[in-house]
Amino acid sequence: MKTLIAYFSAENGTTARVAKDAAEALGADLYEITPKKPYSAADLKYTNPLARCNREFFAKKDVPVEGKIENFTDYDTVLIGFPIWYGCAPLVVSSFCKSYDWSGKKVAAFATSGGSGIGKTAEKLRPFISGGELLDAKLVHSGAELTAWVKELLPISDS
Ligand SMILES: Cc1cc2nc3c(=O)[nH]c(=O)nc-3n(C[C@H](O)[C@H](O)[C@H](O)COP(=O)(O)O)c2cc1C
Repeated sequence: MKTLIAYFSAENGTTARVAKDAAEALGADLYEITPKKPYSAADLKYTNPLARCNREFFAKKDVPVEGKIENFTDYDTVLIGFPIWYGCAPLVVSSFCKSYDWSGKKVAAFATSGGSGIGKTAEKLRPFISGGELLDAKLVHSGAELTAWVKELLPISDS
């Protein structure tokens, strides 16, 4: 059983911290989802209607992802982590999901937020996990909380 935690984190590393702690606890590999064009602080200033994040959100186009996971087929379990943006997963995360074949994989999503719940994140992400099984999505506050949830949800070994 080989597990990957693929995460996107932009604002202040909140999701990255959760992902790293859980990867250590679960013995999982870690991969950072990076947009081809990294987000600056100004890009993320959603109070500015013209900020990049708002323009992308309204355009609803793919946000190109840097690089590729070469050994993706090695993983039978993948956890996808991200901050909640506009009530669900950021576009760069759905763009990431679209570019892989998820056949035979068990998948779970986790998110951090500024206060919103997980909403319909799982339902909205599911169409992009082609061939895989996205079991559920959960809002988490720590690596320990994520680890406990994943151990309940998925048969992950500690090795
Ligand atoms: C463009 C943008 C949109 C956001 N939308 C929401 C939202 O709809 N609900 C919410 O609770 N937080 C929202 N947030 C806050 C982030 O979800 C929260 O700060 C998250 O923990 C940041 O994680 P990170 O440091 O890993 O990027 C938004 C942040 C950004 C930059």
